[in-house]
Amino acid sequence: MPQIGCDPGWEGKPRSWGRTGTQGVVTLKLSWWNRNTVHPTCRLRKPRSHQGVGSTSSKSPMKDLTLPFDEAQIRRIIQQHPTPFHLYDERAIRQNARRLLRAFAWNPGFREFFAVKATPNPYLLKILKEEGFGADCSSLAELVLSERVGLTGEAIMFTSNDTPASEYVRAKELGAILNLDDITHLDFLERRCSGLPELLCFRYNPGPDRTGNVIIGNPAEAKYGLTREQLFQAYQQAKERGVRRFGLHTMVASNELDRVYFVETARMLFTLARELKDRLGIRLEFVNLGGGIGIPYRPEQTAVDLEALGQEIRELYEQMVVPAGLDPLAICMENGRMVTGPYGYLVTTAIHEKHIYRDYIGVDACMANLMRPGMYGAYHHITVLGKENAPPDRVYDVVGSLCENNDKFAVQRSLPPIEPGDVLAIHDAGAHGYAMGFQYNGKLRGAELLLKEDGSVQQIRRAETLDDYFATLDFSGLA
Ligand SMILES: Cc1ncc(COP(=O)(O)O)c(C=O)c1O
Repeated sequence: MPQIGCDPGWEGKPRSWGRTGTQGVVTLKLSWWNRNTVHPTCRLRKPRSHQGVGSTSSKSPMKDLTLPFDEAQIRRIIQQHPTPFHLYDERAIRQNARRLLRAFAWNPGFREFFAVKATPNPYLLKILKEEGFGADCSSLAELVLSERVGLTGEAIMFTSNDTPASEYVRAKELGAILNLDDITHLDFLERRCSGLPELLCFRYNPGPDRTGNVIIGNPAEAKYGLTREQLFQAYQQAKERGVRRFGLHTMVASNELDRVYFVETARMLFTLARELKDRLGIRLEFVNLGGGIGIPYRPEQTAVDLEALGQEIRELYEQMVVPAGLDPLAICMENGRMVTGPYGYLVTTAIHEKHIYRDYIGVDACMANLMRPGMYGAYHHITVLGKENAPPDRVYDVVGSLCENNDKFAVQRSLPPIEPGDVLAIHDAGAHGYAMGFQYNGKLRGAELLLKEDGSVQQIRRAETLDDYFATLDFSGLA
């Protein structure tokens, strides 16, 4: 079963909710209410066709298939930056970020720590920092990236596992919130990382109490986090060893489109917060619901209604947290996919057309640029630029050049007739896209470009070259 962050796009979701109790409330701090969210009209941007990014409606938007660019603009970009490349839509990312913060503005301490692993690009991190997000890091490289954009201290949640001492040391130096994956890490920190910090968080694995979803798998089989029993021991031990401030974390869903799942996660954590107070006298500063809010990869899917999610968790907070005397309790999340996923496109050119037992369109991108379809059979919508209104009366496999038969962006997909030279936009490639790239078969990762709010395009990562590929080899030893 794939792990968090490498999740497939399978559609079935058998599950049950692990309900753990009842529930709490609210002072208002509307952090983005007063902010001017009207953006300059982008000269090349088409209006979005329906409720979508940036909408303040409480209706769940169906997937928005409107592109923030057209064929002419992409062809101009290609003159400077050859395909394949990832293109991110700054305006949509900002609007979506504000929407998430608005949905939880009732909780004064709410914070989204963007899961850096989803799209580890400093320019995108900077945008998200400007919007008020922190960073969720899982490795040294992600810590360094965050530091480079000015995210330090408690703006970083270090949610790692199987962590080398050197990474904990760096995270501590940065003042990051350490989110421990195991009870033994208390000793590990004391012995190997010169002691425990003042603030600690533990990652809870509910095991059989939650069934997870089809994507993330069964929590009881996941390597992450502490059992319930360990959790209480860990807080007790940490308190005895001088830790003064505490948070609680879990991550039990991935690419989950049903908001009830997150409400139930909040219920689970609020229940634990009450138990920690009653049993150990520990008052949590925050609960971190994890990431995992899904995105509608398929046209018929519906995005999570963030406003409804925020309100439902607020009601629970009023029922559970406030009467227990635990208010204020900050709510945190560490989403990646829903933050940048829908607002990044893999742009690629058709270079071959092949007709054997099936009809194939070969493009200049491959799994090295976007692994999800090939690895998981995940659906990513494809728009053939300039042919948006042409009837989809051909059936193709759209393939890359890896010597792997699963290197397919689409299998038996109805699309308009495609010819070599046509440019394709592969949707929802803005998270767990470039980040999962690799160099197998000597394939090189493409550039990352930012479509800025004023319509201009900035290269935010250059494409790899053969020199990059060979950089770790020293041919001189062959002589
Ligand atoms: C610990 C943790 N937090 C957050 C995330 C982000 O998940 P998503 O991008 O689905 O929101 C992941 C995903 O890999 C994760 O492992």
